[in-house]
Amino acid sequence: MTDQETLIEAARAGREHAHAPYSHFRVGAALRAKSGRVFTGCNVENASYGLTLCAERVAVFKALSEGERGFEAVAVVTDSDTLTPPCGACRQILWEFCGDAEVVLANLQGQIEVHRLSALFPKPFDSSNF
Ligand code: THU
Repeated sequence: MTDQETLIEAARAGREHAHAPYSHFRVGAALRAKSGRVFTGCNVENASYGLTLCAERVAVFKALSEGERGFEAVAVVTDSDTLTPPCGACRQILWEFCGDAEVVLANLQGQIEVHRLSALFPKPFDSSNF
């Protein structure tokens, strides 16, 4: 398998753990560190809707909390005809910790798109702004 296929497969597997009883929209993410380690995430919803965490942020926080730093790619997998890009909050978090990483969007039907985070998040607010 290519690195891209491995990352998509990890995100697909992560999606299996989604807790999405309110939206029924299951999301999986996988983050590849520069070390080569891969960290998965899934969306975790809550009866208090605003507490929901997206799959991407779960993957980033898992990795950070295990001491990992420096990331090169993230994959997001859903079962949707329209590929799912990271939400605005996730773009901000990804920018902080991954910089201009590769963002791989995929669905269960096998469609794939690859973007740079800078293309999805063209004028970021970050520590260079203050
Ligand atoms: N969701 C993600 O996990 N990642 C995204 O980038 C988009 C949205 C989740 C949050 C919520 O559980 C569900 O998708 C519907 O918004």
